[in-house]
Amino acid sequence: MRRILTIGIGAGDPRQLTLQAIDALNQAEVVFIVEKGEEKRELADLRRAICARHVARPQRTVELDEPRRDREAAAYGDAVHEWRSARADLWANAIHRELGEDGTGAFLVWGDPAFYDSTIAILDELLERHATSFTYEVIPGISAIQILAARHRIALNRIGGAIHVTTGRRLAAEGIPVGVDDVVVMLDAHCAFTAFAAEPFDLYWGAYLGTPDELLRAGPVGAVADEVVQLRADARARKGWIMDTYLLRRRVPATTPG
Ligand SMILES: C[S@@+](CC[C@H](N)C(=O)[O-])C[C@H]1O[C@@H](n2cnc3c(N)ncnc32)[C@H](O)[C@@H]1O
Repeated sequence: MRRILTIGIGAGDPRQLTLQAIDALNQAEVVFIVEKGEEKRELADLRRAICARHVARPQRTVELDEPRRDREAAAYGDAVHEWRSARADLWANAIHRELGEDGTGAFLVWGDPAFYDSTIAILDELLERHATSFTYEVIPGISAIQILAARHRIALNRIGGAIHVTTGRRLAAEGIPVGVDDVVVMLDAHCAFTAFAAEPFDLYWGAYLGTPDELLRAGPVGAVADEVVQLRADARARKGWIMDTYLLRRRVPATTPG
């Protein structure tokens, strides 16, 4: 039976691969790299550099181009459906074509496969809907969320508290749910934190975490929001892409003893 390893590779620093991830990487004869357009080429290159650094066996890399998605289509649901099934076909064919009956292949996942990554969902879809069979395992990685906390030297929760993880789009559309004090935000192209500038929140922001281009800023949202917006725009223009993550933390008044 073919075997697929879904390996979390950390979010930018090749030293953040776990020993388990390196071990898994070295079991794969083929590494599948999903290409997501020119601006993400740097990330695909980083994945290749990680293999070169940690792999001590003959190994092939196979690039899978993401099918083009028709974002202008009138029937949005149909377009997404078509795109997903084109992508599933591509992956199923590649697994069959590139791996022998008992071969092992790996998908390298940015950060940790548990956070905003579709690899597990696609593999499940292949097993459910396509005439294909393989076993798969998931090897965790260090997420951008953890790097953010480490670089700012903070814990994400307060004592016994909850952490809410969401996207920029949801934060902008829904705000912060009642009772939530600590919100981690990923996938925010529009700086949704600016809406909280007049509220008692601190922002802990990081871009290109774990890479030589890393940027960090922290402070009351009202005080740092403009600077972060500018930094973000400049960095994006310079590099052609940006990945940033942040924590919005409600300032809780200190309780007076007694
Ligand atoms: C598609 S999600 C993938 C998250 C990934 N699975 C993880 O665990 O970090 C991409 C988002 O992760 C965050 N991200 C990933 N790598 C990052 C990095 N090196 N620095 C800052 N944010 C990063 C950004 O919010 C980005 O929009």
